Amino acid sequence: MDFQHLIYETAGSIAIVTINRPKALNALNRALLLELDQAFAAIADNRSIAAVIVTGAGEKSFVAGADIAEMSAFDLAEARAFSRLGQRAFQRIEELPQPVIAAVNGFALGGGCELAMACDFRIASVNARFGQPEVTLGVIPGFGGTQRLPRLVGQGMAAQLLYTGDMIGSDEALRIGLVNKVVPAESLIEEAKAIAGRIAGRGPLAVIAAKAALREGSNLDLNRAIAYEAELFASGFATADQKEGMAAFLQKRKAEFKGE
Ligand code: CAA
Repeated sequence: MDFQHLIYETAGSIAIVTINRPKALNALNRALLLELDQAFAAIADNRSIAAVIVTGAGEKSFVAGADIAEMSAFDLAEARAFSRLGQRAFQRIEELPQPVIAAVNGFALGGGCELAMACDFRIASVNARFGQPEVTLGVIPGFGGTQRLPRLVGQGMAAQLLYTGDMIGSDEALRIGLVNKVVPAESLIEEAKAIAGRIAGRGPLAVIAAKAALREGSNLDLNRAIAYEAELFASGFATADQKEGMAAFLQKRKAEFKGE
């Protein structure tokens, strides 16, 4: 896939999507958000991809937010359309059947923090910095930040970050559960690939079902959520992967999953 502002690469069954506007610290403009939406629509239909990594080009920034130069002259209708465009693109990432890992390699501010939060989980380089600085610009997050941040780090910590606009470093992000792991900058992509590779080695349909249970379940009350889990658990028994996975365990050999 060819894009102006994204680099799309594959390594076996892992896709790597790199946000590529390094001169603007990978700020998200409309054209870029449209490309991101297209890229993830294509990945959703490509079952040879088992897991996706999202990262930013250059050493300094994952994504430093929505493009302030483009936004500065928006009228109300344009601002609303921009917010909906970003929300749609990030929802597509969240709803992608395959897992998505954010490899946060520097600034993840505003829309950048929101992009990372739309991924299934985040690993960060030691130099990563997170924040929702929109109030310093006289606005609030528009790509889901006010909703995903409290779900990830709790209401109190989200409130502090949203109201102060303060940035936090990778250690604090780890402490509050915003990221799963902090690694040296030079090993970030290798670490992300190693985790993605382990995911890719599991039963692909089971991984997709686990993501569906996790994501859909969080929108349901517990009774409905566990009923949904039972349906997904049972549907696993209609797959060849279940037969193979359990036979391999009993025969003390490695499973060869086919995603069927
Ligand atoms: N939009 C547009 N351009 C941006 C940008 C952004 N969000 N962030 C950085 N850039 C540009 C700068 O304008 C600069 O361009 P020039 O070289 O042409 O002047 C270039 O990237 C490098 O940036 P700095 O010179 O500022 O680099 P720095 O190391 O001094 O500072 C920084 C780095 C702290 C990240 C700083 O750039 C910064 O504060 N950026 C803005 C962060 C921000 O407020 N993000 C939230 C945006 S609003 C949003 O995202 C709303 C939403 O939810 C929808």
